[in-house]
Amino acid sequence: MVKAVVLGAAGGIGQPLSLLLKLNEVITELALYDIVNSPGVAADLSHINTPAKVTGYLPANDGLKCALTGAHLIVIPAGVPRKPGMTRDDLFKINAGIVRDLATGIAQHAPKAYVLVISNPVNSTVPIVVEVLKKHGAFDPKRVFGVTTLDVVRASTFTSSISGAAPQGVRVPVVGGHSGVTIIPLLSQISPRHNFTHEEIEALTKRIQFGGDEVVKAKDGAGSATLSMAQAGARFASSILNATVKGEAGIVEPSYVHLDADKEGCAQLRKLIDGLDYFSSNIELGPNGVAKIISLGEISEYEKKLLEAAIPELKTNINKGVSFIADGS
Ligand code: NAD
Ligand code: LMR
Repeated sequence: MVKAVVLGAAGGIGQPLSLLLKLNEVITELALYDIVNSPGVAADLSHINTPAKVTGYLPANDGLKCALTGAHLIVIPAGVPRKPGMTRDDLFKINAGIVRDLATGIAQHAPKAYVLVISNPVNSTVPIVVEVLKKHGAFDPKRVFGVTTLDVVRASTFTSSISGAAPQGVRVPVVGGHSGVTIIPLLSQISPRHNFTHEEIEALTKRIQFGGDEVVKAKDGAGSATLSMAQAGARFASSILNATVKGEAGIVEPSYVHLDADKEGCAQLRKLIDGLDYFSSNIELGPNGVAKIISLGEISEYEKKLLEAAIPELKTNINKGVSFIADGS
């Protein structure tokens, strides 16, 4: 039995993400939780002829507990999205409390689950989940993931539009965090190799860092990326299931994780990033979640400068999440 749970399942990301999870035949039970409309979304999806039994829960009648109990994997897209002119950090005020409360439910009812955090600001919401789990003695760094898949999905699309390569085959490592200058594309490591000019590298880097803004602007007040995010979130969830349920080896995905997930492997990375506890990098997945955090390899002078610019902002974002749980500020 493999139970997957979506918290925030009736939202712009939650609905298409739940649809894609319903199509994943590894999942036998799909529990949808939201403060509105989740029973309706569940009834709709339940007519699709794939194995997963779909249930919908609202907060009443211990809905969060019922949704979470027995979960193998939990995806969290609950919370408000940006409007034009806002940064992801501007969402902290509302989303921090939402994520804290959902994480408390996870600590109480599904402490062994793999937790995939989509809610922004990811750089801070992941530390919030971790601090809540720690408080309850339920933290395993190998099982908590900030979902940064959309950054590599965009990087493939944007770079292939210049290089002419088929987008599905292009892999660009994107490291750091998930907001503006903390998003660091490593275009020197693009596969298949492509020799971009410096001007192309600068333009592509900016576009990948601020790709989310393109969608926020185009939606003009109606929210941020939902459909591309659902695809990216379903891809990451599927990779976690393939590694932890099917036992497939050698799966690599990027994710923003606590570096204790691979203490030895991270020694070199920690030096490069000035002792930060969280960072997004390529992760090799294994039967228990994170098997290995892959370090950055050789990076260009330009990428070193991007890293320098990212570190202070990441530090501030991480501290903000940690303090929110430590002293509620
Ligand atoms: P949305 O407003 O369309 O949906 C959010 C859903 O969360 C709503 O259905 C709402 O009812 C629900 N919700 C609110 N409080 C809740 C609670 N306490 N418990 C359960 N559900 C609750 O927003 P969206 O477009 O789906 O975006 C959701 C979040 O994902 C935003 O914070 C957005 O910034 C973030 N996001 C992250 C990425 C990423 O790459 N990690 C990409 C896109 C969006
Ligand atoms: C994204 O990258 O699309 C998301 O983080 C949503 C946003 O606010 O841009």
